[in-house]
Amino acid sequence: MCGIVGYVGPREATEVLIEGLRRLEYRGYDSAGVAVLNGDGMRTRKAVGRLSALEDELKRDALHGGLGIGHTRWATHGVPSVANCHPHTSFDGKVSLIHNGIIENHRELRRELMDQGIEFRSETDTEVVAHLVAKTYDGDLVRTFQKVIRRLRGAYALAVCHTDEPDKIIATRVGSPLVIGIGDGENFIASDVPAILKYTRKVVFLNEHQLAVVTRDGVKIFDAALNPVEFTICETNLSLDAAEKEGYEHFMLKEIHEQPRALAETIRGRVNGDNVDLTELNLDAAVLKGVRRIAILACGTSLYSGMVGKYLFERFTHLPTETWSASEFRYADPVIDDGMLVIAVSQSGETADTLEALRIVKEGGARTIAVCNVMGSSIPRMCDATLYTRAGPEIGVASTKAYTTQLAGFVLLSVGIGRLLGVTDAEDERRLVTGLKQLPDQVQALLDEDIVAVKRCAKRYKNVFNFMYIGRHFNYPTAMEGALKLKEISYIHAEGYAGGEMKHGPLALVEGTFPTIAIAPQGRTREKLISNVQEIKARKGVVVMVSTQGDEEARELADYLIEIPPCEEELSPILAVVPLQLLAYYTALQLGRDVDKPRNLAKSVTVE
Ligand code: F6R
Repeated sequence: MCGIVGYVGPREATEVLIEGLRRLEYRGYDSAGVAVLNGDGMRTRKAVGRLSALEDELKRDALHGGLGIGHTRWATHGVPSVANCHPHTSFDGKVSLIHNGIIENHRELRRELMDQGIEFRSETDTEVVAHLVAKTYDGDLVRTFQKVIRRLRGAYALAVCHTDEPDKIIATRVGSPLVIGIGDGENFIASDVPAILKYTRKVVFLNEHQLAVVTRDGVKIFDAALNPVEFTICETNLSLDAAEKEGYEHFMLKEIHEQPRALAETIRGRVNGDNVDLTELNLDAAVLKGVRRIAILACGTSLYSGMVGKYLFERFTHLPTETWSASEFRYADPVIDDGMLVIAVSQSGETADTLEALRIVKEGGARTIAVCNVMGSSIPRMCDATLYTRAGPEIGVASTKAYTTQLAGFVLLSVGIGRLLGVTDAEDERRLVTGLKQLPDQVQALLDEDIVAVKRCAKRYKNVFNFMYIGRHFNYPTAMEGALKLKEISYIHAEGYAGGEMKHGPLALVEGTFPTIAIAPQGRTREKLISNVQEIKARKGVVVMVSTQGDEEARELADYLIEIPPCEEELSPILAVVPLQLLAYYTALQLGRDVDKPRNLAKSVTVE
């Protein structure tokens, strides 16, 4: 993620940049910075935290000038800090550069530049590009930039300016978005249209590998060989609000649809051939061999991913694993010692209950690993190692992409640690790595289908007062998560239950109109769950089934059938939860609820 913006024209650049960054904060908000060029050279201001921190900085020490670039960061390489914040300046102070994406070959470029005596000030992948531009500069920034980007591998939207050519910003993109705004005597660049909508509706969407030269008087676009390119200026009719959501009605729906990309990002670089590769975590096999049991601590949706984590860890590491609601753990009397490995799971990394539980286990001498989505947040800072999910900022209060990426993270961690312990079977590792690689496309296929049964169900059952969700083993947590999604955004009461427990009490609820969502993909417990469904049908209950494509028995039994693609049973919670997220979403929509900001809830729960 990350958002970039640039301006050249008669206004104070910082005003335009701050307005643009505010509109891009949904792309990342752990730190922000701007650089402005004027007759005196280039000056930069940066601040960690929300954009308001940068605004305060600019109030204390203003920047004046009509050309500038700005960046709001969502950390991928290096924690949120002033040093890691963009814009990055070259060693000679002449180049300023912003970046959204990942430079995959940054390590080798950094080594090459360090060998030439260049000192790095940040841990980012971006800083290499600023130094490379300064090193390569030959009096022609366009030609220089073309040479530099030829050396980069990865995904990037980049914008650069140079004190020797103070009239222009040069920008390019590969795999990351970039739009150019055409004004009257002023021009703009941005990661996304809303950043510039206040000033212009005329936009040019830069194509991959194209290079744009943006000055006050005009915009020129070149192909990768620097041949001039004709371009079309479009008039956007987006409203500011809709544009931030990329056309989706709500952030939640956008985030549900971002899951293929979020999963691909979370897996990227962590599988290698048939193996899981957790090198980045620096796990010490000797230390892990001293682990006698595992405890997973989390709250809410993260707790349900932790419940799946328990099954995975027991299967692949053979270590006894328990999952704790962090708010309960704090007031229980858990036995903690240095043979305990604690995994703290949190999207935000700031949940007070999880933080406090973590403090207790650290005092007791336990080893700690975080599974977290926000780099540099409090939970990862407290842990010995972190597996970052790379879902990007999650804005909707109801967690979706953070959950599925946590599940993928648990598969990676359990198999990876199992192998370090010499326990995971090579065939299991191969089949899960193969399955993980297929997941983004499978989730995409599910989303592309538009799942008609989900919308029909939402319409038909929006007025019932109670829902039951059942699943077994890996999909018992899916039932809990499906029920949580429904209650938090539609305000309909829903319960998640283990299918086998129905006959021990809840079956009494079932009668003519009572709906049960049964999650029964292929796997060890499918048949048992089918029996539970039969018990419900025998009592005239209504059943919505989530099952694997081609399951004829499920088709016959179900009042509504939702099919997911065939997959390894350990990965089925990732696919099965997607239609449940959509069911909650469309039900809430039918009921006119405030989907992104449900009543009484907050995104990050920093109080006990
Ligand atoms: C539900 C939801 C919450 C969070 C919980 C923990 O959709 O988002 O239940 O999962 O508040 O938050 P994190 O994961 O940030 O620790």
